[in-house]
Amino acid sequence: MPENNEILVVNGNGPLHGRVKVSGAKNSALPILAACLLGTEDIILEEVPKLKDVEIMIEVLKSLGSEVEYLDETTLKINSKNLNSYETPFELMDKMRASFVVMGPLLARFNKTKTKSPGGCNIGKRPIDLHLKGFSALNAKTIQNHDEISAIAEDGLKGSVVYLDFPSVGATQNIMMAATMAKGLTTIENAAKEPEIVDLSNFLSKLGAKIKGAGTSTIMIEGVDKLTGTTHSIIPDRIEAATYMLAAAMTKGDIVIENVIASHIRPIIAKLIEVGCIIEESEDDDVIRVKADKRLKGTSIKTLPYPGFPTDVQAQFMALMTVCEGESLVKETVFENRFMHVDQLKKMGAFVVTEGNEAAILGVDKLKGADVKATDLRAGAALVMAGLVAEGETRISDIYHIDRGYSDIVSKFSNLGAKIKRIKVE
Ligand code: EPZ
Repeated sequence: MPENNEILVVNGNGPLHGRVKVSGAKNSALPILAACLLGTEDIILEEVPKLKDVEIMIEVLKSLGSEVEYLDETTLKINSKNLNSYETPFELMDKMRASFVVMGPLLARFNKTKTKSPGGCNIGKRPIDLHLKGFSALNAKTIQNHDEISAIAEDGLKGSVVYLDFPSVGATQNIMMAATMAKGLTTIENAAKEPEIVDLSNFLSKLGAKIKGAGTSTIMIEGVDKLTGTTHSIIPDRIEAATYMLAAAMTKGDIVIENVIASHIRPIIAKLIEVGCIIEESEDDDVIRVKADKRLKGTSIKTLPYPGFPTDVQAQFMALMTVCEGESLVKETVFENRFMHVDQLKKMGAFVVTEGNEAAILGVDKLKGADVKATDLRAGAALVMAGLVAEGETRISDIYHIDRGYSDIVSKFSNLGAKIKRIKVE
């Protein structure tokens, strides 16, 4: 387990006010970094978020022979012309299961790849059957023994039709990348439609790939012989944006979020209006104002693949619900174990009852500060939000989860008026 002698200390401090700029999307930067393995000329990536997970993915690329250098805090220059391995180091896969999306690009470059089975994680088993189903459909033989996975296409990858039983984001990305240099046409049916899929598709097209339909359920990829280089700016992080919007609502604040694409967070905007927030969108679509001047009302959410309510905002929305007036309901349909934040919120006085993948919340007047633990990335963010409105001090441990997905969380919240600090503990 990562060493973790730091905690976040949050004190309830009234409404948030001010402006916050959202960083590039973690869940776009990671697959696009993996896709850089396909390019044989210089690639410049802009708006790369400063996150632990990005650092790990850069280590993976370097371990495979890519040259990676920071041009500035959020700009990378990458060249993968001379890759020297098709095997992802096992210890790096252990550090971050999302590195599994390097399999597709390596298969495309070498017609073979090997890595460690990405285990499950706190929120679920995280199977990879759909990824392997896609590789097999592209004429690769996949072999999975205890903890090793390899895929080999002896006579090259060949385009085919792949139906995804679930619109898996990672499987869609892995198959898309493998298909960019397969012979012929690949069609992915029931593909994921997340904005991060569209961003990846735009990036691959700029490298010379021939892709149509990203953002719909059917994506078609015509294989090409070679991919080159480009410059690409990562889309804003819709989950980070949602987190700050909900924090503003929860504290009855008034904040402006910069670098956000409103069309990527329609469910969040709709639900915030439903509970009583005032949302102002700018005409040029990249700034949103969130205001709440009275106690909000409870509502219900059900997580679904995009464009449904995002599972990555479920924990944060539940935190908001714990102080809304009346009853709220949450149904989590994407992951099988994504309620670990419930016990931690209950330590702070929240009233939540869960039954399977459903939770019922009765709003309380006040939460109280407590010692709590971040159990996963988004649960950690939910606890920070709860600390913003709780009476007294909230001490959050295991914050390495939070650092995986939220860059500069202390300075961003402090600039909005929050009393939050990171301290070292024995
Ligand atoms: C991506 O994970 C995101 N991670 C997750 O964000 C996000 O929660 C998830 O998509 C859903 O939106 C990154 O992009 C790095 P999936 P991914 O494959 O690709 C089942 C965060 O907080 N499934 O769409 O792993 C699986 O069990 C993280 O930023 C299969 O059954 O998600 C799950 O129930 C957490 N077989 C569902 O699909 C497979 O082969 C969604 O998984 C693959 C997935």
